[in-house]
Amino acid sequence: MNNIFKFAIYIFLTLAFAWLAFFVGAKNQYGDLEPTSQYLEENNSIPKGADLFPQSMPGVAQLGAKEYLSLGCVTCHTQQVRTIDAGFDVERGWGKRPSVPRDYILQKEVLLGHNRVGPDLANIGLRGYTREWLHKHLFNPQILVEGSICQPSPFLYDISNERSSGAINADNKADDNVSTIFIKPSLRANRIVSYLQSLKQDYELPEMSFIETQDEDDTEDIKLAEVGTAKDDQVGLPTWLADQIASGKEIYSKITPGGGMCVACHLPNGLGQPGAIPPLDRSDWVLGDKERLIKISIHGLMGEVVVNEEKYLGVMQGFGQPLGSPLNDQQIADVLTYIRNEWGNSVSAISPEEVKAVRDSEKDRELTAMWTEAELQKENSSD
Ligand code: HEC
Ligand code: HEC
Repeated sequence: MNNIFKFAIYIFLTLAFAWLAFFVGAKNQYGDLEPTSQYLEENNSIPKGADLFPQSMPGVAQLGAKEYLSLGCVTCHTQQVRTIDAGFDVERGWGKRPSVPRDYILQKEVLLGHNRVGPDLANIGLRGYTREWLHKHLFNPQILVEGSICQPSPFLYDISNERSSGAINADNKADDNVSTIFIKPSLRANRIVSYLQSLKQDYELPEMSFIETQDEDDTEDIKLAEVGTAKDDQVGLPTWLADQIASGKEIYSKITPGGGMCVACHLPNGLGQPGAIPPLDRSDWVLGDKERLIKISIHGLMGEVVVNEEKYLGVMQGFGQPLGSPLNDQQIADVLTYIRNEWGNSVSAISPEEVKAVRDSEKDRELTAMWTEAELQKENSSD
């Protein structure tokens, strides 16, 4: 009987944690997103006079979104540049950076799409197509792309053999026998094209910078998130330690790939975000028990935690998770050594061997099983 009771409790907890992770966590991180500037000041405020992003779509484009939806374009086109680990969307040239939830907050119709039969359209407005090209493509894609299976929508156009004002020549160049045809866009066609042209994620956000791709020439305008205060008093450190700190700082500030993304949540100043993300600066979690710190780095942390006497309720996935940008033992050691020696922190380094030891001791634990503060305390007191 007792066992059944335990079993039920266990199932309840499992479901409760999953719920927490998915809903409370998502709400906490994304629930009240607002437009923001591309970069924030040190103190987490929006610089004076900075443009805010995302910007709302022109009204005609919003009407176009409805048409796009009603024509079923979402069956074959997504509008979401995926993270580096989930695909190679940035390398494919589908965007300068992965899409983030904030990109969509001003769109009345969020059309993420279902399948990817055709290219992702989150940045179709940046691909340099003219209105004329987009109209011809909407009218009949095969005029422009041989053998295209993209859906033609000729019913959106008035077709005529005579040129009239506002009409576009839609000859199929590949076929000489076709007599000259001119198409005149309807209101609906114009709305759709305005919508397509408005689709662009050409701005950075504090939580996501542009990603550098290998064959990118103009690397100047691609910036990684900036780390605030560099300490110049690292001069006296032994080189191995200075190297570890420098590498850790890079991991801390880099979004992905190879980055830990820490800066997006804990910010360059390590102060986190009041009420939502706990601080790393002078945190007892960072400065205290190394084993506990490594454990939460590998498996993540969720549920209520107390950091410097303040309560937080959030979710942080482990840095070794396949869905994040998985960090190896050396990288985890470096980033932890960095946060233990930045801002007001200055304590001993963490070695890759120490990370490996904890990883080995927890090898039976599912990678997705995040720690809770309560569980960590229980483990500690039962040692
Ligand atoms: C049956 C699946 C399918 C449907 C439905 C579909 N498309 Fe496509 N689309 C494709 C494919 C495949 C391509 C790539 C070939 C091409 O460029 O024509 C494409 C290409 C495109 C492109 C050019 C993208 C680029 O980067 O070159 C645009 C714009 C586009 N589609 C818009 C639309 C619109 C608007 C609709 C709804 C009216 C739509 N598509 C419906 C499959 C589809
Ligand atoms: C998506 C946002 C996010 C990212 C990215 C993130 N964290 Fe966290 N971090 C959190 C949240 C939220 C908590 C508190 C979790 C809870 O409430 O259970 C936390 C807790 C912590 C803690 C323990 C509490 C504290 O404040 O000392 C440490 C240490 C930490 N994070 C370090 C890091 C490091 C290092 C990285 C990068 C490798 C990182 N975090 C990336 C959101 C994030």
